[in-house]
Amino acid sequence: MLYRRNRILRVSPAIRAMVAETSLSANDFIVPLFIVEGSGITEEIATMPDYYRHSIDHTVKEVKELWKIGVKSVLLFIKCKDELKDNKGTEAVNPDGLMQRSIKAIKDACPEMVIMTDVALDPFSSYGHDGIVENGKIINDATVEVLARMSVSHAEAGADIIAPSDMMDGRIAAIRSALEENNFHNTGIMSYSAKYASCFYGPFRDALDSAPGFGDKKTYQMDPANRIEAIKETLMDVEEGADIVMVKPALAYLDIIREVKNAVEVPVSAYNISGEYSMIKAAAKMGYIKEEQAILETLLSMKRAGADLIATYFAKDAIKLLS
Ligand code: PBG
Repeated sequence: MLYRRNRILRVSPAIRAMVAETSLSANDFIVPLFIVEGSGITEEIATMPDYYRHSIDHTVKEVKELWKIGVKSVLLFIKCKDELKDNKGTEAVNPDGLMQRSIKAIKDACPEMVIMTDVALDPFSSYGHDGIVENGKIINDATVEVLARMSVSHAEAGADIIAPSDMMDGRIAAIRSALEENNFHNTGIMSYSAKYASCFYGPFRDALDSAPGFGDKKTYQMDPANRIEAIKETLMDVEEGADIVMVKPALAYLDIIREVKNAVEVPVSAYNISGEYSMIKAAAKMGYIKEEQAILETLLSMKRAGADLIATYFAKDAIKLLS
């Protein structure tokens, strides 16, 4: 008689911990931060309960706290004033813009924290699109030029890693060469390589008031039907100089995370995006699921799928739960 007792390895918490294949730690998390003009401001985002937009002074406090609990990296987004938006990304490259001032303030206060910055035009665009619009179309090459200048201005302010989220063609190569030309040899690039046209970005667009004014983003973000295309996009970004690649969203694309992980030799990150956050918050509030367990289970699923890093609004909760 042959006995196969798989349950032996599940008998107690101790043995389960010993044989766990995947684990989460503070080192895994990238914390997205939303920054607004002004001072003394902490305002809750209507569609993201318990998540906030902060003015620079409060952001600095938050970053210091994050560093204390073990977070190594933050990803900055700014909410641009309406009157500064145009169709050229003027404010995006302003050396004295909110993003550039935020980077400096955080670097001064917490120099060891790895600062990643979002590079795309949507928060600065009067059309709410990631690129420059001409005759109703998002034009690629002129956009890439601005993105490269924007990246250099972030590097000048002190950003450690540039994170282009726009999905224009050729932007990684353009950003890498612009950084090199300006002597930023140690500034990295985390490319949103496989970024899908997803409905789950909704709450984020509310947070930054950056929803597209016309149409959708399907001519630059990927079709959720596609898998092989994600590999193509990612391999091209690595070839062009991406140091870290990203799959976004995470939950509905766990298969893509795994395929990308198997295809590349650079760290892979996953973005546990706003809609994924808000769904858990809403379901927990209704009493349909337990929030704490849902947070750890979904983050673990991303790690198991192959994510080396996870950008997540749940980082603080997760770290608390893990300790
Ligand atoms: C914009 C950008 C988006 C997100 C990150 N950068 C939204 C979009 O592409 O419309 C989404 C993040 C989230 O939903 O949490 N380039």
